[in-house]
Amino acid sequence: MKIWAHRGCSQRYPENTIIAFSKAAELFDKGLEGIELDVQLTKDGEMVVMHDERIDRTTDGYGFVRDYTFDELKTFHIHTGNTAAEHIPTFKEVLDLLKDRMYKGFRLNIELKNSVYPYPGMEERVHDIVEEYGLHDKVVYSSFSAKSLEIMRSIDSKAEIGMLDTKVSDCLYKLKGGCGADALHPYWQGMDLPREEFEGYTVRAWLSGHLYPEKPTGGRLDLQALEEKGITDVFLNEPEVYL
Ligand code: G3P
Ligand code: CA
Repeated sequence: MKIWAHRGCSQRYPENTIIAFSKAAELFDKGLEGIELDVQLTKDGEMVVMHDERIDRTTDGYGFVRDYTFDELKTFHIHTGNTAAEHIPTFKEVLDLLKDRMYKGFRLNIELKNSVYPYPGMEERVHDIVEEYGLHDKVVYSSFSAKSLEIMRSIDSKAEIGMLDTKVSDCLYKLKGGCGADALHPYWQGMDLPREEFEGYTVRAWLSGHLYPEKPTGGRLDLQALEEKGITDVFLNEPEVYL
C-alpha cells in the first residue's frame, strides 16, 4: 500500500500549508509516496493551494478565493497553533519547497478544485508551471470534473491523471466514458465493485477523517483490508502514524 499525505500532514498541522507540507516532505525518507493538495486560481490568475472555494473555514478572512487578488489574499492568516501564522501558499511556493525531493522520486497529486467553479484555463496554467519546474513525471493530476480531465489529456497525452468520485463504480464509468484518466480515485468507503471489474488500475482512495485542529480519534485503519478491496494507494491526514 502506498501512502500519501492528504493536504500535507493535515491532522497535526493546518491543511494545505507550508508547515503541513514540510512535515510531510520529511517523511519521504520513511517511505511516504507523496503529497496530495488542492489548487485554485485567484482573481488575478495566481495559482494557490486551497481546499475550499471560500476562505472562511481556514483563514481569518471571508469570501471566495476567486474574488481576491493574490496580494489581497495573502493578507489573511491561517492560524497554525504554536507556530507562526501563515498565508495561503501559491502553488509555486509549494513546488519550491518540494522540488528537490520530487527530483528524487517524491510525488505530488494535484487536485484541480474546479467542479464547483470551473476556472477556465486552469489546466494549461497548472501544466505550464509543472513543466517549468521539470516535474511532469512526478505529478498526478486529478479532478471530480471529467471535462477538466479531458482538457488536461488534450494538453498532455502522457500526463498521469486520476478520476475522482465517491464510488469506484462512478470513477470507472467516467474513466471509460473517455475523460482520459488512467487511475481511479474513489472515497475509501466507496469500493462498490468486485476488484476483478477494475483489475489493473491504480486505485488511490481518499479519506475524510479528522483535520487540524480536531483531535485524532486514535483509531487505526486496516490497510490490509483496503488492499484486499483493490486499493493500491491511500491519502491519509496522519500518514506519520502508518509509516
Ligand atoms: O484527492 C482526494 C481527496 O482530497 C478528494 O476530496 O474533499 O479532500 O479534496 P477532498
Ligand atoms: Ca483534495
